[in-house]
Amino acid sequence: MDLRPKRLDPRLVAFNDFDPHLIAPYNRLVISLISAAASRKLKRLLIASTQYGDGRTTVTLNLAAALARARQRVLVVESDFLRPSAMRLLGIDSATGLAEAVAKGLAPSKAMVWLQPIGFNLLPTCAQVENSAELLASPFFEVMLRNLSPEFDFILFDSAPLLAAADARLLERHTDATLLVIRQGGASTNQMAKAVSLLDEDRLLGAVLNHVES
Ligand SMILES: Nc1ncnc2c1ncn2[C@@H]1O[C@H](COP(=O)(O)OP(=O)(O)O)[C@@H](O)[C@H]1O
Ligand SMILES: [Mg+2]
Repeated sequence: MDLRPKRLDPRLVAFNDFDPHLIAPYNRLVISLISAAASRKLKRLLIASTQYGDGRTTVTLNLAAALARARQRVLVVESDFLRPSAMRLLGIDSATGLAEAVAKGLAPSKAMVWLQPIGFNLLPTCAQVENSAELLASPFFEVMLRNLSPEFDFILFDSAPLLAAADARLLERHTDATLLVIRQGGASTNQMAKAVSLLDEDRLLGAVLNHVES
């Protein structure tokens, strides 16, 4: 599927070359991830945050683009089943997402979209999924990821906010580490503490500070 520059969300800074200054933090993160992945199992990354609007989807897609530029094979799984937004930010449309593929008994590859010219795969979610916890806990999901894993260097999982659903915690089981997106001026210290306490701290790889005033 071809991405149209005019339809991309302006915050998807890693999708173009306009401002190297804006892409630099993503490139640094890419270098850290690739070097860390050389010495430990670090293929599946959960991108989590406290609440809506923190920028999980933006960070996930930018990181995917930066990894793709570094010639990594990347899959983004849109696993915010409450408010999926990857397709909206990318300005694309697809009638078949992960949940639709499952419902129709199709292989997940039938729902996967290859995004050009940036060069990564997206497993989209088209509409809100009512039984998201059921899907995430299902053996089907586990088997699907096991089958997909060998084809990719990194699989990034977008997720629902930690304070909105148990979904991100269910995704911990399927992933190797967690990246926490923190919105500057967003959640209160109490909310942050509550959200972090829900996560397994040993798996926490680091944090991405988003919405930073420049
Ligand atoms: N660093 C940023 N500065 C300003 N706006 C941002 C930034 N990151 C994301 N946004 C905007 O905030 C909105 C919510 O971002 P999104 O990634 O969808 O959040 P989430 O997935 O955590 O709910 C989007 O419209 C996006 O363009
Ligand atoms: Mg989102």
